[in-house]
Amino acid sequence: MRGLEGKVALVTAASSGIGKGVAKVLASEGCRVHISSRDESRLNDAANQIKTETGRHVETTPCDLTKPEDVRRLINEVRKKSGSLDFLIINYGDPKVAPFLDITDDDWDSSINMFLKSTVAMVKSTIPEMIAKGEGRVIFITSLTTKQPLENFAISASLRAAVVSLSKVLSIEYAEKGLTFNSISQGYIMTPRLENIAKRNAEMSRISLEQAYDAIRRTIPAKRFGTPEEIGYLVSFLCSSDAGYINGTNIQVDGGFVKFPY
Ligand SMILES: NC(=O)c1ccc[n+]([C@@H]2O[C@H](COP(=O)([O-])OP(=O)(O)OC[C@H]3O[C@@H](n4cnc5c(N)ncnc54)[C@H](OP(=O)(O)O)[C@@H]3O)[C@@H](O)[C@H]2O)c1
Repeated sequence: MRGLEGKVALVTAASSGIGKGVAKVLASEGCRVHISSRDESRLNDAANQIKTETGRHVETTPCDLTKPEDVRRLINEVRKKSGSLDFLIINYGDPKVAPFLDITDDDWDSSINMFLKSTVAMVKSTIPEMIAKGEGRVIFITSLTTKQPLENFAISASLRAAVVSLSKVLSIEYAEKGLTFNSISQGYIMTPRLENIAKRNAEMSRISLEQAYDAIRRTIPAKRFGTPEEIGYLVSFLCSSDAGYINGTNIQVDGGFVKFPY
């Protein structure tokens, strides 16, 4: 894809699943990729796996997105190691999934830190340099819950909707400076998290794991789960020089799951 070779990309929450898939695709397109998540050894394993599969070195920095002070340190680390940052890809950890009254104030506080305060801290410490260069891409990886709120997903639906709206505002404020801000609302993607959800459903409904997967698959028009790389292909296109006029959008990658047409 045009305009990716040699560019510096940071992908957060990227030791596993969607974040790792996005990092792998960007590395295979020639980006100098940094990944972060909480667990250093999982991060190193992910970086080694990406290197094996793409031949590209990947930098790692531990960072807990529930701690905005970690996030500022992360951006400084990326600058120290690579000198600049061209693409900021903000992916998140998993929010608590529970009935509204079972979500504690502490759950809300740590989720507000992860989805809102860390997002603001990352964007604030990144975009002045992008503005000075006259180019930059910021992509927020959210969830189908932004378009189709589901029961037990109060944290995900409400805080990710705030991220999508923030992305829109930023796209308006900084379009003229050469920056774009877009968000992705992915549906069911085959990752360790989806495996955990299927295992939990299987236990609760006393069915096999395969039956639990089938029950979810039946709700998806494509009748299959997405792959982390399919999110990565969209991210790399949005980062490419061919996508400079795509700004302020929220794009679904969900096999047709969300039925709302706009
Ligand atoms: N898979 C799906 O079907 C699906 C659908 C819609 C939305 N999503 C959302 O997409 C995101 C990624 O999900 P996934 O399926 O790829 O899950 P996953 O395979 O479990 O990966 C989650 C990643 O987030 C990192 N992480 C967790 N908490 C973190 C924190 N506080 N700070 C920094 N990193 C953290 C984990 O690494 P460490 O443990 O090392 O921190 C791991 O790298 C989540 O927000 C999820 O809710 C997923």
